[in-house]
Amino acid sequence: MANVTEQVKDTTGWRAVNLDVLRRIEKLPSLSSVVAEFLELSRREFFTAKDFEVVISKDQALVARLLKLANSGLYGKARNIHSIPEAVVLVGLENMKKIVFAVSTEGLTRKRLRHYDYDPARGYWMHATAVGLAARAIIEVLPEKPLHGEEAFVAGLLHDVGKLIVDDYLDPEPGKRRVGLDEEAEAVGLNHAELAQYILEQWRLPETIVAAIHHHHAPLDQPDASGGARVIQLAQVLVDTWKVGHGEPIDLSHDFDPDMHQLLIDRVGLPLSKLPQVVWDIRQNLTGIEKLYADDA
Ligand SMILES: [Fe+2]
Ligand SMILES: [Fe+2]
Repeated sequence: MANVTEQVKDTTGWRAVNLDVLRRIEKLPSLSSVVAEFLELSRREFFTAKDFEVVISKDQALVARLLKLANSGLYGKARNIHSIPEAVVLVGLENMKKIVFAVSTEGLTRKRLRHYDYDPARGYWMHATAVGLAARAIIEVLPEKPLHGEEAFVAGLLHDVGKLIVDDYLDPEPGKRRVGLDEEAEAVGLNHAELAQYILEQWRLPETIVAAIHHHHAPLDQPDASGGARVIQLAQVLVDTWKVGHGEPIDLSHDFDPDMHQLLIDRVGLPLSKLPQVVWDIRQNLTGIEKLYADDA
């Protein structure tokens, strides 16, 4: 590992980051431009299947994947769907949006991590996707939303993207394990949440998403953590109830205990009366989530 470091400015001041790490960031697969454009489109009050198609058709590989999924039988009977507007009718716009983001980030989320304690095959993807779905479910019931639903989903999908880089610099000796933030900072100079900021800026994602990911491990008593970061924290706590990404098949029978996370729930601004609906929604979304992966890219 190169020892050359570069001073970078972080919210906590100047930090020494391994220069090789910064170079490695530039080599990560780029995020499809469809993600940013589609986020933009999703902010509109109303858009049609045609608007949707205009954005999606810039990425023909994505179009092919969407049509394959629509024809797979995953969304009702298998049939002959030849166009994006037809697929929207069959699959539904809300589902379609989730699929677009899930598919256009899978070059990153399908990576395997050598040291982090996810299931070897698709544990990291499961975790990322589940946190995205959970974050979206939380946002939907919040009286004051720090992010749009789609932004929350993308923030969840990408929240641990920093681990893809850190993984290469960890001590290989102890094998798969729970890797703490301190161990990460020791290895590269920043933890995976702080490092993600540099990755996300390279992809020009909205500031709300960057802040949500950057602070998703900020202590609860730190007042400047963004509302979006709290949503990601809560989403993670929720999916950890079922150890998603750490064992298959997912066992959804455990109950979430809100008493353990009262302060976090308060900080998110989630009314307790809405919690059962959120948990129900997440369970629904996680049921059969593997099928989305099983359809090979
Ligand atoms: Fe995570
Ligand atoms: Fe994380």
